[in-house]
Amino acid sequence: MPRLTVNDRPVEYDMDTATPLLWALRDASNLTGTKYGCGDGDCGACMVLVDGAALRSCLITLEEAEGRFVTTIEGLSRDRSHPVQQALVAEQAIQCGFCTPGIAMAAAALLQRNAAPSKAEIEEAIPNLCRCGVYPRLVKAIQRAGRVERRLERISAAPAPGIDPDDAAEAVPAMSPPDSED
Ligand code: FES
Ligand code: FES
Repeated sequence: MPRLTVNDRPVEYDMDTATPLLWALRDASNLTGTKYGCGDGDCGACMVLVDGAALRSCLITLEEAEGRFVTTIEGLSRDRSHPVQQALVAEQAIQCGFCTPGIAMAAAALLQRNAAPSKAEIEEAIPNLCRCGVYPRLVKAIQRAGRVERRLERISAAPAPGIDPDDAAEAVPAMSPPDSED
């Protein structure tokens, strides 16, 4: 059975090793922030971090994910405090929000390697499709998140999502730390 680390928690999936990582995350781990859009590598809605790189989880099998460190939007921060999350909200770069988790993961990976990306660098690093067309605001938001990461700017934390992190850990088992398990 494939073993990997999801949001800092070791997980062993009792699933067919050919299962796309996307479905293991959504169906087995209840990490539904990772979205299913096209299932074919085109939209980016399913992006997660795998060993720090933004990858489309619909294209990775559990076998390929074996032994790797996966971070989903639920693991980016527990309280929406990651600079990318703060900036997406502050710049109102979210409309329906379906594409947002995948974009946030791609943006987080970009800022890890380049905290001051140009518009062209953002467009190249974030190929995600957004049917609502948030692209102009997205560039502003990601550049702003980079300034926050470089401590040139602060953004007030977004309002709490209305669920206590401990309650969220119960609702989403894969978010709970290993030592909280029975
Ligand atoms: S669902 Fe994976 S790229 Fe669209
Ligand atoms: S905000 Fe609706 S698809 Fe991007």
